[in-house]
Amino acid sequence: MHQLSLLPRPKQHLARGAVHIPDWLSLEQQRQLLSLCREWAKQPAGLYTPKMLDGIPLSVRVVCLGWHWYPYRYSKTRDDCDRLPCKPFPVELQHLASRALEETLAQYEQLFQPDVAIINWYGARAKLGMHQDRTEAEAVRSAGSPIISISLGDTCLFRLGNSDTRSGVHQDIELQSGDLFVFGGAARMAFHGVLKIYSETAPPELGMKQGRLSITIRQTGLSHVFQQKLV
Ligand code: SIN
Ligand code: MN
Repeated sequence: MHQLSLLPRPKQHLARGAVHIPDWLSLEQQRQLLSLCREWAKQPAGLYTPKMLDGIPLSVRVVCLGWHWYPYRYSKTRDDCDRLPCKPFPVELQHLASRALEETLAQYEQLFQPDVAIINWYGARAKLGMHQDRTEAEAVRSAGSPIISISLGDTCLFRLGNSDTRSGVHQDIELQSGDLFVFGGAARMAFHGVLKIYSETAPPELGMKQGRLSITIRQTGLSHVFQQKLV
């Protein structure tokens, strides 16, 4: 049993610009989002395993909506796998994103024009090393354009670091099914990663047999219109 889950889980500002809201989605809302994720994960243009530049596969499986991300660029077609067009960015995630910002970094609500979701599926042994999200355009990154992350399924141990170095000052939190985590503004370039998945911790009523899904909603800044609104 992992210990942190026994503690109360209030809404928490981990750092300036980084907000965690536990149990943000009700079980019914989690079920609905899971069922959408299952549709988005289907082939064609569904879940696949990206490779790093050195050819080593990531331990997560990924499907992207709106734009296709792969190390380290965005494209409209899945150029590193089947070359199919990426599925569109769905209105359901647009609505979730604006509600998320309303409750976290409301100052970005008017400016933020999400156009991509990266959906990661983590099996029991999957991890994501400490990294910064830098593929988005420099104009939106420097404007502090937030990354909105929603978790479903198994709990993970998530590390939020500092913006300067991969190691050093950091905070570890658990992200459980239904949790919202948003980092933007001063925290936009914070290093972060997923250290561990706690197997079989998903709420049984969710109906997700194994693993963790993270849905991260972002603004690429690659569309001219979006870029003009933010800068
Ligand atoms: C990411 O850093 O891109 C995903 C983080 C997560 O899975 O919560
Ligand atoms: Mn990231």
